[in-house]
Amino acid sequence: MSNYDVIVIGSGPGGYVCAIRCAQLGLKTAIVEGRETLGGTCLNVGCIPSKALLHASHSYHEAQHNFEKMGIVGGKPKVDFAKMQGYKDDVVGTNTKGVEFLMKKNKIDWIKGWAKIDSSTQVTVGDTAYATKNIVIASGSEPSSIPNVDIDEKTVVSSTGALALGKIPKSMVVIGAGVIGLEMGSVYARLGTEVTVVEYMKHITPGMDMDVSKGLQKILKKQGLKFVMGAAVQSTKAAKTKATVTYKLGDKEESIDADVVLVSTGRKPFMDGLGFAEMGGALTDRGQIQTDNQWRTSIAGVYAIGDVITGPMLAHKAEDEGMAVAEVIAGKHGHVNYGVIPGVIYTTPEVASVGQTEEQLKEAGVDYKVGKFSFMGNGRAKAVFQGDGFVKLIVDAKTDRILGCHLIGPAAGELIHEICVAMEFGASAQDIALTCHAHPTFSEAVREAALACGGGAIHA
Ligand code: NAI
Repeated sequence: MSNYDVIVIGSGPGGYVCAIRCAQLGLKTAIVEGRETLGGTCLNVGCIPSKALLHASHSYHEAQHNFEKMGIVGGKPKVDFAKMQGYKDDVVGTNTKGVEFLMKKNKIDWIKGWAKIDSSTQVTVGDTAYATKNIVIASGSEPSSIPNVDIDEKTVVSSTGALALGKIPKSMVVIGAGVIGLEMGSVYARLGTEVTVVEYMKHITPGMDMDVSKGLQKILKKQGLKFVMGAAVQSTKAAKTKATVTYKLGDKEESIDADVVLVSTGRKPFMDGLGFAEMGGALTDRGQIQTDNQWRTSIAGVYAIGDVITGPMLAHKAEDEGMAVAEVIAGKHGHVNYGVIPGVIYTTPEVASVGQTEEQLKEAGVDYKVGKFSFMGNGRAKAVFQGDGFVKLIVDAKTDRILGCHLIGPAAGELIHEICVAMEFGASAQDIALTCHAHPTFSEAVREAALACGGGAIHA
């Protein structure tokens, strides 16, 4: 029987990053993964393939709408969807192979199969038992549907099915205006699908700053997405080539037909066959594995990180926890600053957010100031047809310390990190405003928002 210091269960961004850090810290490490390839949901059927399709469909949109404006003329671009899917599969392949390479490089054993925890010192995979001093559960999450909606991954699909459609549907209903619905809805809208988003709340992107929520909805409407808001989906009925979605709007029940229905109503922890709950491991009332602030579960020697525990279901949050828990297991200090975890939606323009929203600060009775700057005042953004959007910086009214940042605009998912670093250093808006920013860059808009918190933006 092999003896490990750590067995990590699950090879998504949380699990594989944890395994690498464990190995770097000198711990004998194995990773258990039941999929054919490493990388978990994120690399195989989540973040990475969706970004490939977002890039491809955005390029198509640019060719259709903006090339001629820039003097690039030629035949009308057409989509070869099979080829586009092939490109997406290649991107996934190179990334999952990359993780395999990293496992080998760090001398981490990949145990192929699905893990079952027998005790705090033993994991079984298939017929083989493995002894270990520590176990890290990083088993991730799976799509969670709603009552009377059965996902068949053909007509009624989750994000997994939406990434693997055989052809571009004429029409699509997206249930839920969260991150997955808006990203995948954008992909298909750009490829010519008539996309209708049906959302229970009165606004999209629940939990995000309301300025971002309203601004993004306006932009997506301009891009052709339709929205039915305040509508609670009751059921779907799938036929061979289409499905009917029934929803309640006030007292009225209405329905809508589409070739494909995407169910993006959230995700839930994945623990099938793991044996943790069966061993009496404590769960939260939402069915997540309960942990303390060092990612210890109620079973000694068993830790848990990522989507399977509380907090935002984000790959980078899982990665941070993966590194931190490795430090804890090695007897060092592991820390994650949950107050500075950025969130990004990869629509065009992108949306990014970190820290507190204006609504949260209002509710907490915090005295704050807002500095806002529109990308219309940013030369670089206008040069690339991306003047839609803004940077909204929220700071403490007395100390000027940055409390949150919410932006819609070009490369928002990159720009947000300037603010993340600033927040980690406890910076003020003035610190950003006094920092020289290269011209012409999108980053200048962040500086302008910081200037707007003080004496005023220059290009407003
Ligand atoms: P979500 O939680 O972001 O959004 C679900 C939406 O469905 C909500 O707006 C909710 O009000 C709505 N909804 C629920 N029941 C409904 C009903 N019966 N009728 C109408 N609307 C209903 O969930 P989503 O988009 O499925 O994403 C799951 C997780 O994956 C999230 O935690 C997200 O953060 C993560 N993710 C992150 C990405 C990123 O960081 N770019 C990309 C994709 C997923």
